[in-house]
Amino acid sequence: MTSTPIPEQMTAVILDSYNGADALRVVQRPVPRPGPNEVLVKIAASPINPSDLMFLQGLYGFKKPTPTVPGFEGSGTVVAVGSSTGLMGRYLAGKRVACVTQQKGDGVWAEYTTTMVNFALPLDDAVSMEQGAMSVVNPLTAVALIDLAKKAGHKTVINTAAASALGLMMHRLGQQEGMEVVGIVRRAEQVVDLKQQGVAHVLNSSDPDFNQQLRDLCHQQNIRLAFDAVAGDLPQLLLAAMPAHSRVTVYGGLSQQPVQVNIASLIFEDKVVDGFWLGPWVGQKNLLQNFLIWRRAQKLMRSALKTEIRSRYPLSQAQQAVHDYESQMTGGKVLLAPGM
Ligand SMILES: NC(=O)c1ccc[n+]([C@@H]2O[C@H](COP(=O)([O-])OP(=O)(O)OC[C@H]3O[C@@H](n4cnc5c(N)ncnc54)[C@H](OP(=O)(O)O)[C@@H]3O)[C@@H](O)[C@H]2O)c1
Repeated sequence: MTSTPIPEQMTAVILDSYNGADALRVVQRPVPRPGPNEVLVKIAASPINPSDLMFLQGLYGFKKPTPTVPGFEGSGTVVAVGSSTGLMGRYLAGKRVACVTQQKGDGVWAEYTTTMVNFALPLDDAVSMEQGAMSVVNPLTAVALIDLAKKAGHKTVINTAAASALGLMMHRLGQQEGMEVVGIVRRAEQVVDLKQQGVAHVLNSSDPDFNQQLRDLCHQQNIRLAFDAVAGDLPQLLLAAMPAHSRVTVYGGLSQQPVQVNIASLIFEDKVVDGFWLGPWVGQKNLLQNFLIWRRAQKLMRSALKTEIRSRYPLSQAQQAVHDYESQMTGGKVLLAPGM
């Protein structure tokens, strides 16, 4: 299956305790062997995402026993196949794939990782390993959020932290689907940047009259759905600005603050705050639906669902890479590339 023999040892990044990037170490450890229903992937690249930052601090939706290898998504080549992987295992052998981490076991910030056969998704020939490494978490979330908005009958929605990789995908996908995504950002440079990228309405939450601007826009355009990646007091600002019977769907916690909501908005104006997580959304789809979603997303990886890359680091500089990403999240992803 692979012309290169699989070594006994590999370089891996491990998290010793849930204390952020400073608790990361680079170690040599045995290359894992794929168990039943698993494949072994030789990792080419993996991004650092906000979910990874949350995981490093123990703030993500689940924790794993430490030490553990972090990293939720990446790309690589299937170099070994475990037992009971059936037809899918035989099909994936030697293929370039995107892979995502399971709730149990190690992540992808290593030279090799094992994952369940159905967590290894074949990449289109036209998708590079680097783009492929970022083809699950944000692209499928963009597809999901635009789909949820469409199914609920919205023509215009709001999105916060709109200069993010995901925010740009939502804007571009929305354009293709006839859905306007109004962007909210927190810095003036981001307003300029998004307008240059064709986002028609961008508001800056740091402007002194932001609340009024937001309210005017929501009422003029009858905007009743907002997607929020920030949490803290932003969901309440959004709820207050939108007409009665509106909804804020929180899908990220970039401020690391709890959501503060005024109960009067919920009770007397019939407004709703809920949450979105990609895993359960995918889990609700059947095999065929997920196959079609994946195929469509792969076709869009060089256009609407493309991600800019700002820098690349070898695994040996994982701590530096995380600090670099934390210091500047807008303007492209930071990748860990084991082959560097
Ligand atoms: N629920 C799900 O299933 C799911 C799936 C995918 C992604 N997400 C979420 O989607 C969001 C975007 O992810 P991404 O990978 O696209 O991010 P990204 O490309 O790394 O960009 C993050 C953006 O957030 C901004 N930001 C950071 N802290 C902020 C704060 N406290 N207030 C306002 N803006 C802030 C940054 O702007 P500055 O440059 O100003 O810092 C940057 O533009 C994240 O919250 C992520 O967790 C959720």
